[in-house]
Amino acid sequence: MIELVEVRKTYRTGSIEFEALRGVSLRIDQGEYVAVMGPSGSGKSTLMNILGCLDTRTAGSYRLAGEDVGEMDEVDLAEIRNQRIGFVFQQFNLLPSLPAWRNVELPLSYAGVPRGERRARAIAALERVGLGEKVGNRPGELSGGQQQRVAVARALVSEPALVLADEPTGNLDSTATADVLQLFDELHAQGRTVVLITHEQEVAERAARIIRVRDGLLAEVGVRS
Ligand SMILES: Nc1ncnc2c1ncn2[C@@H]1O[C@H](COP(=O)(O)OP(=O)(O)OP(=O)(O)O)[C@@H](O)[C@H]1O
Ligand SMILES: [Mg+2]
Repeated sequence: MIELVEVRKTYRTGSIEFEALRGVSLRIDQGEYVAVMGPSGSGKSTLMNILGCLDTRTAGSYRLAGEDVGEMDEVDLAEIRNQRIGFVFQQFNLLPSLPAWRNVELPLSYAGVPRGERRARAIAALERVGLGEKVGNRPGELSGGQQQRVAVARALVSEPALVLADEPTGNLDSTATADVLQLFDELHAQGRTVVLITHEQEVAERAARIIRVRDGLLAEVGVRS
């Protein structure tokens, strides 16, 4: 599903260049659950942004579901993100003025799904994450764990093949972390590919495979038996 070959990413800040990824080759098959670990600044979010087509690599190749992402323009990339990928971030990234269900239906409105269907699917997704009673609440009226479950509902409402999560439990207590990890287990059990960045070993151990990033390189790829 994911195939990176010698991917590099150089950031330019004024005249200063920084190579955040220095030649990363990685293959992730459809249906795998992979955790990405590594020190702060090692390049995990950079890697995730490239996997999620939120940013483009400077060199190397990236194929997603057989398609060469490097050949695509911004319109194609936006379509890939919308149709194939669900995102969950540490900071939830919900729109504060919208009730939960409106936040969840947003990816569907970008995809041109009709209004009535959007609402029904958003509510069904919120029910799947255990928030059927909170569909009308705004993010500020929900706990952190509930807000992250709204974000998971938003990630799964479009039925994406790939779910990318960057420190999704970083702001959650242990109970809310357990709830969110349970949801990722379910997504994995449904055959979706899940890639999760985390600093926490217990969180990473939910995945079948742990990838370590260090100084812009994959230091080690561990596969649990
Ligand atoms: N937009 C940018 N412009 C310049 N440098 C950047 C940019 N984004 C990231 N970097 C640099 O690239 C390196 C990797 O950053 P990245 O965000 O991928 O790290 P990370 O592994 O996700 O760290 P953390 O665990 O703290 O989230 C860092 O040195 C960072 O300063
Ligand atoms: Mg990061």
